[in-house]
Amino acid sequence: MDKLFHVIEAQQFDRPLLSELFAVTKEMEEVVSRYGSNILSRRLMASLFYEPSTRTRLSFESAMMRLGGQVVTTESAREFSSAAKGETLEDTIRIAEGYSDVIVIRHYESGSARRAAEVASVPIINAGDGPGQHPTQALLDVYTIQKEIGRLDNFKIAMVGDLANGRTVRSLAYLLSKYDGVKIFFVAPRVVRMKDDIKAHLDEHGIEWEEADDLIAVARDVDVVYQTRIQRERFGDRIEDYEQARGKYVIDQTVMEALLESSVVLHPLPRVDEIVPEVDGDPRSAYFRQAHNGLYIRMALLQMVLES
Ligand code: NCD
Repeated sequence: MDKLFHVIEAQQFDRPLLSELFAVTKEMEEVVSRYGSNILSRRLMASLFYEPSTRTRLSFESAMMRLGGQVVTTESAREFSSAAKGETLEDTIRIAEGYSDVIVIRHYESGSARRAAEVASVPIINAGDGPGQHPTQALLDVYTIQKEIGRLDNFKIAMVGDLANGRTVRSLAYLLSKYDGVKIFFVAPRVVRMKDDIKAHLDEHGIEWEEADDLIAVARDVDVVYQTRIQRERFGDRIEDYEQARGKYVIDQTVMEALLESSVVLHPLPRVDEIVPEVDGDPRSAYFRQAHNGLYIRMALLQMVLES
């Protein structure tokens, strides 16, 4: 198997690599419970974040430190790095690679992680490129699905919310197309429906999908509800479209009542108002467990790109 180097898009993972990653991820759960490890000591990660982040940046940085590595970081890189002076992304990467062994980048433009990888001699990990992809989120989503419902073949999932601008659902759809017997329901407000490139990819890979508008009816039928935030920052001045999309599909007690006992609700977080806090205590609300899995997945990815 080829060694994992850049992590740019979900399509680059095949099933053997996913199984290997998930096996290492499981070991990382043990590592954390045993107070960490030193396998990445003397290694340094640079994190360049041009867009806001809580979970992704903190979990990557914690992951590196839990494995004994060190971190240099710039948050708000759009304002506080030399990008503000007009430096190109390519030049910034050429500099950062001289200081570090791996670069984790979140950027506001689709395709930016690929551009970074083209000039980098150290691994680039895409932590979200505008409305493009968020592969490490999708990896932790799939890991969570396996852990929560016990399988990755033969299950039904509803992707709900902003499917046009959400990069997590795009990456997740690419990953799910590697498995068998998956059926995807797209439940989105009219202005933010899933894009055709993803639908075409699913068709090519024989993955069944369907657009639906009745969230309650879909909730009765699926194993996973994957709720997402309406991506306000991608609407520009289309305030009316945003208002129309927001609040259309909310996970509340009524949706939970429709959901099977064995099903779960996921969300990449942050949530605004699309999951009411009253359902947080329901054992099927798995989104905080999902976010915790991000630490283990990112530990495994860092170990695989730096050590194996
Ligand atoms: C997501 C993102 O940044 O795309 N957040 C995350 O990384 N967990 C989802 C979102 O911002 O809505």
